[in-house]
Amino acid sequence: MDHTKIKETLKNLRAALTDELKGHNFYIKAAEIAKSDGVNEAAEFFRNAAKVEKGHANEVEEILKKLR
Ligand SMILES: [Fe+2]
Repeated sequence: MDHTKIKETLKNLRAALTDELKGHNFYIKAAEIAKSDGVNEAAEFFRNAAKVEKGHANEVEEILKKLR
């Protein structure tokens, strides 16, 4: 793979990874707050969203690994 030709895609993948991890952290914290507030439906939503974001982060990491 010619990394000079996919420079922009590598940059976008790294930005995506950062954003997915930020999203994951946000949802984890939001879930804890919702739980302590006693809003269980929101806590469940936030926990599920955290899992989805972690899954996205893992997918991006796999793509980046293959491009090394
Ligand atoms: Fe995501």
